[in-house]
Amino acid sequence: MRKTEVKNFFTNGGLWPDTNGIHINAHGGGILYHEDLYWWFGEHKTPGTAGNRAYIGVHVYSSPDLHEWKDEGVALKVDPETSDSLISAGAIIERPKVLYNKLTRQFVMYFHLEPTGCGYSSAMSGIAVSSNPAGPYRFIRAVRPNKGFWPQNVKPEQMNADSITKALENTAKIENCSNPHTPEMNILGRDLPIGQQARDMTLFLDDDGKAYHIYSSEHNSTLHIAELTPDFLDYSGRYWRAFEHRWMEAPVIFKNKGRYFMIASDCTGWAPNAPRLATADHISGPWRELGNPVRGTTEQQNTTFRSQGTFALQLDDANIIFMADRWNPTNAIDGRYIWLPVKFEHDVPYLEWQENPYLENVPFMSELAG
Ligand code: DGJ
Repeated sequence: MRKTEVKNFFTNGGLWPDTNGIHINAHGGGILYHEDLYWWFGEHKTPGTAGNRAYIGVHVYSSPDLHEWKDEGVALKVDPETSDSLISAGAIIERPKVLYNKLTRQFVMYFHLEPTGCGYSSAMSGIAVSSNPAGPYRFIRAVRPNKGFWPQNVKPEQMNADSITKALENTAKIENCSNPHTPEMNILGRDLPIGQQARDMTLFLDDDGKAYHIYSSEHNSTLHIAELTPDFLDYSGRYWRAFEHRWMEAPVIFKNKGRYFMIASDCTGWAPNAPRLATADHISGPWRELGNPVRGTTEQQNTTFRSQGTFALQLDDANIIFMADRWNPTNAIDGRYIWLPVKFEHDVPYLEWQENPYLENVPFMSELAG
């Protein structure tokens, strides 16, 4: 049977029914593999434009094979709209990711949080915890990361008091995407006393057990790679800036043959854009950009197949699924999913369109393919 003829297998960009026949509602998501099951966490979206905000919470599904997805309910519920909770209904809760902490045997969730009524101005990290993968997750706090800590790769001029004053005075000029003023502004120094902004994000668990929160910071102009404490519940205070003034969103990280790779997007709201591939020998960098990883038509290259990355599901060293969202900002619940195998040529990753989220070398996926 040809891959495109696979019965009941998902089609990229189509409806992806769970075991109840309902399109999976886990956008901007990530997957945790734990005790023989895959757990897919993502934003529960609702209809219309309002559906881009969180009225339900973080949804979770489980699967033994990445194909049959059982609805496990709402892992993290929002609080009532009338409450003064930071995660009340109507807040922005984006890109939730979960790691299992072996030391505490707890599941730790991070997400981008903008409390109700503040637009995208708060730029906080929400942290929640549970002793079960499906939850319920208890929201423990929201923070601006690394308050009071300079990055490991801080530049002397960023610690200069005059440049901090200038940035404070000119904050109104700075927007959250492609703003010509950011290179002149010391946003890092400005935010040192209150903590750094954290928007689009992912988590990465390294082979040595250390976990990292990677997020768009400094009005989205620069990514931060922040080490977490051994229990994953806080920031260790060690972090690194990367891709200065490159406006990288949607960071997706994986590892192959000991090297780190990142595929991130440009900063264009819900509209898709061209992805960027980068590599480093250490998670902390220095990161080197390698261009656009998409092989295909100009449209596919310029739009990441009309999608934006969210997570790399690393099945083993060589079998990696690039997970992406095809957003539908006017009817958020109808966002679609694009999963593509990460392919390699001469140890450099690339992405190519295929109809199904199918990986040739993964036995259970080949079985599904017949
Ligand atoms: C792009 C980000 O990647 C999304 O997660 C979301 O924050 C949109 N911007 C909002 O415009």
